[in-house]
Amino acid sequence: MILDVARIFFHDEIESLKREIEDANFSSYTILTDDNCEKYCQKELINLFSQFGDAQLIVVPAGDKNKNISNLEFIWNQLLNNADRHSLLINLGGGMISDLGGFAASTFKRGISFINVPTSLLAMVDASIGGKTAINFANFKNQIGSFTDAFATFIDLNFLKTLPEKELLSGFSEMLKVAIISNIDLFNLLSANEEFSKKITQDIIKQAINAKLSIVKSDPKELGKRKLLNFGHTIGHAFETYSMQNDASPISHGQAVAIGMICETQIALQLSIISPQEHYILVDVIKNFFPKYSFTINALISLISNMKTDKKNVAGKINFSLPQSVGCGLIDIYPSENIIQKSIEFYHSL
Ligand SMILES: NC(=O)c1ccc[n+]([C@@H]2O[C@H](COP(=O)([O-])OP(=O)(O)OC[C@H]3O[C@@H](n4cnc5c(N)ncnc54)[C@H](O)[C@@H]3O)[C@@H](O)[C@H]2O)c1
Repeated sequence: MILDVARIFFHDEIESLKREIEDANFSSYTILTDDNCEKYCQKELINLFSQFGDAQLIVVPAGDKNKNISNLEFIWNQLLNNADRHSLLINLGGGMISDLGGFAASTFKRGISFINVPTSLLAMVDASIGGKTAINFANFKNQIGSFTDAFATFIDLNFLKTLPEKELLSGFSEMLKVAIISNIDLFNLLSANEEFSKKITQDIIKQAINAKLSIVKSDPKELGKRKLLNFGHTIGHAFETYSMQNDASPISHGQAVAIGMICETQIALQLSIISPQEHYILVDVIKNFFPKYSFTINALISLISNMKTDKKNVAGKINFSLPQSVGCGLIDIYPSENIIQKSIEFYHSL
């Protein structure tokens, strides 16, 4: 079972995770969280893992703009207070915390162990698994990071009870993404005509994680097939950065990826990679789940400029992973700027 290999423990496997933590004999525990998860999830974590009762607590402000170098420095400074090379960092929160905490742990004293306890759907199905950690830098997403596996990931759907609906939908976007590029059965399950929240079950979450892990396992360092998971993210990250810089209430990562998936499917259509029928199906499904994001068409210049800093680019060319049909994708496509612009205009016109 891939989930076992990736050391992912669900609520009903908590006792074996607790034993593993005891057996590892860590010298100290530190919990990293954000101010929302401190309020809604920290007590529950201590109820579940009494051994973390005396842990040092580090709290950073919530929000992706805080996944930055000053908070990284703050965490390193706090870790100096009581962590050594045999300490354990517990990342309690969404993907912002697992990315930031994972990177802090992977660099502190050349690397200490960390556990991810994802509290958002997006972190459960995506950010907390697969070994990527990162911070944003110079106003661009995920520019500095590492590939470092967590000691374990603990997934408990009870944490989702306090997650705002907008954030639940954000996680659903990454579930749809992995289904579109790799698993038609999962896509059919997710796109079936009922409320998206009815699909947030442990069984479907496991299927989404397995879909991601089967790709990651074949290409852990993203040299080939793993790039498929970037579908929606080239344009998605550009919108996420744009929104962070321009909106009082920035769009979620998943909402940005949903916009990116629509634009990038349209690029696949322009390049005759996907058929008009499959393009219609994908755009229709994504559009029905995610509210339209309003922006002025003048944003095109900033969006293209944001894409030029994407870390997937090669020799200055903007790199895309695109759907070929439902359940199947292609990597390393370099469309012209004109084609990219047309895809954004298409989204704008919907
Ligand atoms: N490393 C990877 O492979 C990977 C993959 C996908 C996304 N990411 C990163 O993940 C981040 C997005 O993750 P996210 O959507 O979880 O964002 P997030 O961590 O910012 O969480 C979203 C919001 O939900 C709040 N929240 C989280 N859990 C809660 C709970 N149980 N109750 C109430 N509020 C809660 C947070 O405080 C925050 O305000 C981005 O930084 C993205 O780049 C990383």
